[in-house]
Amino acid sequence: MRVLLVGSGGREHALAWKLAQSPLLTELHAAPGSPGIARLGECHPIRAEDSEGLLALSHSLDVDLVVVGPEAPLVAGLADVLRPAGIAVFGPSRAAAAIEGSKSFAKDVMAAAGIPTASALPVARPPCVVKADGLAAGKGVHICRSEAELEAALRAVAALGDAFVVEELLEGPELSLLAVCDGRDAVPLVPAQDFKRAYDGDLGPNTGGMGAFAPVPRLGAAEADELVDAVHRPALAELARRGSPFVGLLYAGLMMTPDGPRVLEFNCRFGDPETQAVVPLLEGDLLGVLAAAAAGELGGLALSARPGAAVTVVLAAAGYPAEGDRGSPITGVEDAEAAGALVFHAGTAVQGDRLVTNGGRVLGVTGLGDTLADARAKAYAAADLIAFDGVRRREDIALAATGDTALDVS
Ligand code: AMP
Ligand code: GLY
Repeated sequence: MRVLLVGSGGREHALAWKLAQSPLLTELHAAPGSPGIARLGECHPIRAEDSEGLLALSHSLDVDLVVVGPEAPLVAGLADVLRPAGIAVFGPSRAAAAIEGSKSFAKDVMAAAGIPTASALPVARPPCVVKADGLAAGKGVHICRSEAELEAALRAVAALGDAFVVEELLEGPELSLLAVCDGRDAVPLVPAQDFKRAYDGDLGPNTGGMGAFAPVPRLGAAEADELVDAVHRPALAELARRGSPFVGLLYAGLMMTPDGPRVLEFNCRFGDPETQAVVPLLEGDLLGVLAAAAAGELGGLALSARPGAAVTVVLAAAGYPAEGDRGSPITGVEDAEAAGALVFHAGTAVQGDRLVTNGGRVLGVTGLGDTLADARAKAYAAADLIAFDGVRRREDIALAATGDTALDVS
């Protein structure tokens, strides 16, 4: 099977790493790809937003499947350009991707499908959460516990120029539950937890994610399936009823409140960095499952997880999330790999023969182990070997969960 992977982040590198192991794969192509992906397949200098360029590339390579990583091209309608041309796509249509692209559309779907979520508030008064309506790369959400925070949030969303929604502030541990969907059915992946805030102790601004771990203590396959029954399957049914079946990866960001799970958001693609922790734990052939989903034929397939745990630590530029870094030399990636970690490239470039920074999140370092504590130790030990100017990371990824001895989840 010839596969074209669209995107260039850590998520796409993790997907490429897994797809490259598939017995079904004959050729792996990526657009635009990254220096990490270039070691696994052929990269083509076409941007993820260039749907006409991707259509032409898919034709010229005669690909059997296009796997789309990032949300922006999906929300803009990339799948609607490729599918009518006879190209199989793992990724939702523009109409279905609106579940991520528009918070108000997502709320509407949840209300119609009876999916538990935070209630909308008629007036903005703390405590509350203010969210920009459109895509904001995880940075459009403002938690407001005081009047001052609320004022700042309203100014920030006004500056974005988009509509915004105000909802109740929920409390509880968060969970990312990703499921492969074929329009009707959903196959859950191992539950993961993401670390969205920039600094240790969940302080600072929201980011795309500073780290992740999987699995989540006390959430085994049976619990994941129950959540998919309550959340993903009703969403799929409602989208299908509206004439826009969701084919691709439906990601539910959940908060496990004392009153039960609540959906914070849906995303229309694999999570990043969650994918960098989840995918290395998957047993079996991910490519076969993605291809079956794209064909609308998931029926009965499953993706089981191997025993053990994975922890991903993101190495970011000094100024992230406000700004990235370009051109600083990166050292130690091979050493980290030799130490047994997986190093996924999130924002890197090659200058001459040197690997350099090229973005906000630069690398994701994933450690695997029998327990979360093991995996965490491996990830940090490997991350210690990598250096670039201003490198910054959180020190507390998966720390609280390693104290939890109930990891035994199957
Ligand atoms: P979103 O982009 O909607 O997932 O929001 C990003 C982050 O903001 C979430 O991962 C939560 O940490 C936080 N968040 C979003 N909505 C709420 C809410 N209603 N109550 C508490 N925290 C929230
Ligand atoms: N890590 C959060 C996301 O992918 O949206």
